[in-house]
Amino acid sequence: MSNSAETSYKLLDGKKLADEIKSEIAAEVKELTAGGRRQPHLAAILVGNDGGSLTYVGHKVKACEQVGFKSTLLHFTDTSITEEFLLNEVKKLNEDSEVDGFIVQLPLPKHMDADKVIMSIDPDKDVDGFHPVNVGKTTLGLSSFVSATPLGITKILERYNIETSGKHCVVIGRSNIVGRPISILMSNNARVGNATVTVCHSKTKNLKEITLQADIIIAALGKPEFLTGDMVKEGVVIVDVGTSRVDDATAKAGWRLKGDVKFAEVSLKASAITPVPGGVGPMTVVSLLLNTLKAYKA
Ligand code: GUN
Repeated sequence: MSNSAETSYKLLDGKKLADEIKSEIAAEVKELTAGGRRQPHLAAILVGNDGGSLTYVGHKVKACEQVGFKSTLLHFTDTSITEEFLLNEVKKLNEDSEVDGFIVQLPLPKHMDADKVIMSIDPDKDVDGFHPVNVGKTTLGLSSFVSATPLGITKILERYNIETSGKHCVVIGRSNIVGRPISILMSNNARVGNATVTVCHSKTKNLKEITLQADIIIAALGKPEFLTGDMVKEGVVIVDVGTSRVDDATAKAGWRLKGDVKFAEVSLKASAITPVPGGVGPMTVVSLLLNTLKAYKA
C-alpha cells in the first residue's frame, strides 16, 4: 500500500485487520449461540478516572457489542476503595459462572499492590494474560492466554505474511505487558516466532548499532518518535507499539497519539510498518476478544 514515487512500504493496517477479525468473531458467536447458549461475557474492573484507562476500557466495551459479546463494566470512581474491597470484587468474578473472562485495568491507585490483585485472578479467566501461570505457559510455548498487545502483534505479522523465522528481531522495551512477552513469543518455535531476538532497554549501550542490524523492530518503550530513520536499515519491518499523548493545539482533543517511531523518516526505509493510530492499538482490543472467546469455548 501507499506506494508513492520514493516509498514502497506495506502499511500494516491494524484497524482493517481488526475489523476483519471482529467480523469473523461475530459470525462464530452467532453460530455458537444459535442453539440458545448464552453469549460470551467479558467483564472489566476500572478504578478511578484516568483518561487513558477510560478510553481503553470504552473501546473494549464497544468491541464486545460489535461482536455480540455481553460486557460488564465495574467502574469504581472512588479511588479510595481498599485493596481488600477490590480483591473481593475479583473473587466474585472468579466465582461467577456466567463470566468467561475479565480484566483489571491498569494502572491501579498507588495504595494497591497490582501484582497481588493480578495474582488473585483465576488464570482460566485471565484474558489479559497477566497472571504468572499464563506468562509461564506462554514462555514454555504451552496453550495460554497471551496478553493482548503481544498477541495482536503476532496476528499482524501472521496475517500480513511477514516471515519471522531466522530473522533478527530487536525489541525495544522490556515491560511485563509488551516487551518481555513479545520477545519470548518471537523466539518460540511457532509460525510467528523462530526469530533471533535482542531485547533492548534503558540501560542498553550502542542501541543504534543494534537497531541497524534488525530485520524486524518492535518499538515498545513509550517515547514519542524515538526511533529515527538513521537507526534502521533498508527493508526493515517496523511494529510501533507507542501510544503517547502529545499536546497538539490543532487537534480537537488538544492532544494527538504519537508512536515510538518517526514514521515520516522510518517509512522511507521500511518494507512494512504499522501506523499510529490504527496499527497495534485496534489489534490489542481484538486480541482481548479472541482470548475471551477462547475462555468461553474452553
Ligand atoms: N493498561 C495498559 N494496557 C493494559 C492492558 O492491556 N490491560 C489492562 N488491564 N490494563 C492495561
